[in-house]
Amino acid sequence: MSLPDFTDKIITFLNEQNMPAHIDAAVILGSGLGGFTEHIDNPHTIAYEDIPGMPVSSVQGHAGQLIFGDIDNHSVMAFSGRFHHYEGFSFEQAATPVYLSHALGADKLIISNAAGAINTSFSVGDLMVIKDVIRNNMTITPQGHQKYRYRHHQWVDDVRQMAADFGLVTQQGTYIYSKGPNYETKAEIRSFRRMGADAVGMSTAPELSEAARLELKSVAISLISNMAAGVTKGKLNHDEVKAAADSRKEDFAKLVKKLVAEL
Ligand code: HPA
Repeated sequence: MSLPDFTDKIITFLNEQNMPAHIDAAVILGSGLGGFTEHIDNPHTIAYEDIPGMPVSSVQGHAGQLIFGDIDNHSVMAFSGRFHHYEGFSFEQAATPVYLSHALGADKLIISNAAGAINTSFSVGDLMVIKDVIRNNMTITPQGHQKYRYRHHQWVDDVRQMAADFGLVTQQGTYIYSKGPNYETKAEIRSFRRMGADAVGMSTAPELSEAARLELKSVAISLISNMAAGVTKGKLNHDEVKAAADSRKEDFAKLVKKLVAEL
């Protein structure tokens, strides 16, 4: 299946880097979750800025590195830092990690993000397995009108069971894409709740739709980093996102490691 032309240069470069013959899992690390890369053995780290043709992200909390290595003898590639549409990237560029995971033959893709809770029964620090997505803007599909079918909902129960196996309680829910970079207004959050959204974030939707089109097995997990605007008192800020991610990094790592091995 076709990949956008801009990925040619990146893929050619990566193929010249002595890549593993097979990749068991690709992982996209969301805001504040980059510390997961410490769990990768024998890391081969390439800065995005050293990869010809690779978009370079400017958001704080995103390292901008692609790491190849092993987790419990499974070969992985991890994207520490992603590309947001609000930074000026096209939806296609935002899906770059998906194209590269597909091109290098990853068996599955594990996507993570930080998100604000709209569902008032959620708490900061919860991990929500994404069951459905509200794209909030139909033009988000990077490849225009091509048909694809989401499949990530098929693995939601498996992911939650794998978490439960080591005592981790997770949430499941609907993720709504919001362009950003500003956080939402209280009225927007109220309207998103009426639409059926449980959590809101500024990424993941383009990645999930391209993973679906390319038939790359994918699951997505939101770390609830804050209650969305108006759900609780107080102003939202990026430090809060990082603090919440930090407080749950061990459980997050355990879950991703298990998904790498068993999903
Ligand atoms: N809104 C949008 N994106 C986010 C939020 C939020 O409240 N928290 C983390 N990413």
